Amino acid sequence: MQIYIHIPFCDSKCFYCSFNSYTNLENRIKDYSISLLKSLKYELKNVKKIDSIYIGGGTPSAVSPFYYKEIFELLSPFIDKKIEITIEANPNSATKDWLLQMRELGVNRVSFGVQSFNDKKLKALNRAHSSKEAIRAVELANRVGFKNISLDLIYDFYLDSKELLKKDIEIAFSLPINHISAYELIIERGTNFFSTPEVKANKESFNFFIRDEIIKRGFSWYEVSNYGKYKSSHNLGYWSYKNYIGVGAGAVGFIDNKRFYPHTNIEKYIKEPLFKRVEELRYEDILTEKIFLGLRSIVGVKKEILPSSMQKRADILVDEKRLEFKDGSYFNKDFFISDELALFIMQN
Ligand SMILES: C[S@@+](CC[C@H](N)C(=O)[O-])C[C@H]1O[C@@H](n2cnc3c(N)ncnc32)[C@H](O)[C@@H]1O
Ligand code: SF4
Repeated sequence: MQIYIHIPFCDSKCFYCSFNSYTNLENRIKDYSISLLKSLKYELKNVKKIDSIYIGGGTPSAVSPFYYKEIFELLSPFIDKKIEITIEANPNSATKDWLLQMRELGVNRVSFGVQSFNDKKLKALNRAHSSKEAIRAVELANRVGFKNISLDLIYDFYLDSKELLKKDIEIAFSLPINHISAYELIIERGTNFFSTPEVKANKESFNFFIRDEIIKRGFSWYEVSNYGKYKSSHNLGYWSYKNYIGVGAGAVGFIDNKRFYPHTNIEKYIKEPLFKRVEELRYEDILTEKIFLGLRSIVGVKKEILPSSMQKRADILVDEKRLEFKDGSYFNKDFFISDELALFIMQN
C-alpha cells in the first residue's frame, strides 16, 4: 500500500498555487497533528505492508520534527528499510537540523520546491526563498546524507527566456540531485495569478527546450513533468493506478476503484478526521484515467484493458510510429502529445 500524508501549512502563499495550503495557521499545527494521527491509526488497521510514503503539502518543512516523530512511531511497524519515503521541503525552512531529524526518522528522499534559481523570478512568484538559499538547502540535504534529492522547477512564466531556463538547469545539474520535476505554469482559479493570466508566456512554450536541456545532461524522461536518474516509485505507483491511502486535510485516497475525500478545510478536518466522501468510479472513468496516465508516462497502456475499437485505433498509432507496442502494452515516447493520442484512441 502507498501512503500520502498531507501537511497543509505554508509560510507564504505563492501566487500560482491552488494546493490545499494555508498561511498564518501555526497555532493549529498541534490540533491538526492530533487529528492526523487519529486518521492514520484508523487507516493502518487494514494495512499489511507499506510500499512507499510521500509527505507533501503545503510545506512539510514548515512543521517541526517533533510532530513527524509521532507519525513515524505509527508507521514504523509497517516500514521495510528499502521503501521510498519522500518529504517535500521549501528551501527557506529546510534547516540542517530539520533535514537531519527527517533522515534519522527514516526519510530517504527530499523534494525541494525551488521553481527557479533566478531571484527576480522567485520574487515575482512570491516564493519565500532566494536562489542562494535554494542552493544551500540542496547542498545541506546532501551533506546530512540524502542520496535521493529532487527539485521542482516552473516554466512558461513571462520572465522566462531560453537563457534564464538554461541557467536554472545548469545550476540544478551542478547540485547533488538525481531527479527534477519541471512543471509548465498553470493559471489556476482562486490564485493571485488568476487575475493576471498574462503572466503565463503563451506565445511559445519552453517545454521542448526544457526537456532537451534536461535529457542531454543525462536524466531520463519518465513522465510528462518528471525526469531523473532515479525514478520515484511512489509517482510510478500513482500512474500505474495502484491503491493508496490519503491522510490529512484534502488528501484523496484511492482503493479498489473508489476515491475517498476527507475534509479539505483544516477546522473541519480537525473536528472530523475520519470523515470521507466516497466516490465510486465507473468503468469508463477508470479506463479513461488509465489511458491518460499510461500515455503520459513510461507506464504505458495494457492492450487487454482496451475494447477492440480502441485497440484498432491504438494499432493505427503503432503503424504510424506514434506508439510502440511491447510485451502486451502500448507505450508513448512523446509525453507532450499524450492527450491528443489518448483522445484519438478513445474517440467514438
Ligand atoms: C506542493 S508543491 C511543493 C512543495 C512546497 N510547498 C514548495 O512549494 O516548495 C508542489 C509543486 O507543484 C508545482 N506547482 C504548484 N502549483 C503550480 C501551478 N499552478 N503551475 C505549475 N506548477 C505548480 C510547484 O513546482 C510546486 O513545487
Ligand atoms: S507552492 Fe508550495 S510553498 Fe507555495 S503556496 Fe503552494 S504549497 Fe505553499
